[in-house]
Amino acid sequence: MRPLIAGNWKMHGSLAEASRLAEELKGGASGADLLVCPPFLHIQAVVSAVQGSAVAVGGQDCHAAAKGAHTGDVSAAMLRDAGATHVILGHSERRADHGETDAGVRAKTEAALAVGLTPIVCVGETEAQRLAGEAERVVETQLSGSLPDGFAEAGGVVAYEPVWAIGTGRTPTEDDIAAIHGAMRRVLVGRFGKAAEGTRLLYGGSVKPGNAAAILALPHVDGALVGGASLVAADFLAIAKAA
Ligand code: G3H
Repeated sequence: MRPLIAGNWKMHGSLAEASRLAEELKGGASGADLLVCPPFLHIQAVVSAVQGSAVAVGGQDCHAAAKGAHTGDVSAAMLRDAGATHVILGHSERRADHGETDAGVRAKTEAALAVGLTPIVCVGETEAQRLAGEAERVVETQLSGSLPDGFAEAGGVVAYEPVWAIGTGRTPTEDDIAAIHGAMRRVLVGRFGKAAEGTRLLYGGSVKPGNAAAILALPHVDGALVGGASLVAADFLAIAKAA
């Protein structure tokens, strides 16, 4: 399947820097689909900057409601209206910083699907859970709680991001990544059937140009969700090239 290389810019950069980075990515066509997810305030500028290229743009979160009295929040329809096609949901930083639960992530995912956005739902264990041998069980529980019915049929994407690998320079072993991705595929096919054979399963957590080729070659790794390295155009494009 065609890989998806997604950049999560998190809360980084000025408006000018976001536009410049987007411009630098424009020519980077490769064998992979490219997606960048800037902060909300930079989405429109980035959409303009990548216009006419194959680079897609996504949000980093959305509210579960279509509209209403939700100060500081952004709806899925607003993202769509700004030109986004994807949205990251349930990232571990949102689960930790904003107390997001599996049920809440599921509601947001339903909201994204309702307006035609492609959700990228994040799951992943903490270091304590990995050390306790619970990684697979945690990921399976998060998947069953966070994904709504119809997710695979609608083209939803899943990202496995071990919390302890995010921004640390540490990654699981290749065997461990392959084991979790294989387990995720089994769970998804068990629930959604054949449609889930085509669900893109991304790996995220300290993906760099130096380790991308090995990680992206693993079975059931269909792309990457890249944080830090997505802020440097040359690094992000090198990761896409390795796919
Ligand atoms: O969403 C992206 C991840 O949190 C990975 O971040 O590549 O900086 O480790 P990182």
